[in-house]
Amino acid sequence: FKILVLNGPNLNMLGRREPEKYGTQTLPDIVNNLEKQAEQLNITLTHVQSNSEAELINTIHGAWQAIDAIVINPAAFTHTSIALRDALLSVSIPFFEVHLSNVHAREPFRHKSYFSDVAEGVICGLGALGYEAALNAAHHLLHNKNN
Ligand code: DQA
Repeated sequence: FKILVLNGPNLNMLGRREPEKYGTQTLPDIVNNLEKQAEQLNITLTHVQSNSEAELINTIHGAWQAIDAIVINPAAFTHTSIALRDALLSVSIPFFEVHLSNVHAREPFRHKSYFSDVAEGVICGLGALGYEAALNAAHHLLHNKNN
């Protein structure tokens, strides 16, 4: 299976950025672990982090017919981007929404997500473990689809 991991704005700052909320692991740390996990599951992993909404949208368009599932942390775009939501719907690739922090225990503006109602699943508050759980869930979904 081919799985795309997408990370939105400011997630390149992980490790340095509000570690009490987002943990001390850097994005390369997280992606390295995911790559090891992917290898064991026979998954080809692609990772893209961008601070630009347009680049994230173009990456999703490029995934059409090339990628089987997406794991996405849209970061602040979670709460603002109808365009990113529409991009995911336009390629009809199943996706899992991940947040490091428990967004529901934070400011009210983080309680609204433009993705959750169209996601296969939503994980928040588990830190970096959330990405691993989402990758497992994506593998499970694709495995069950093809059997
Ligand atoms: C986040 C939560 C968002 O509200 C925030 O804007 C982020 C990160 C998370 O992973 O907890 O940038 O998506």
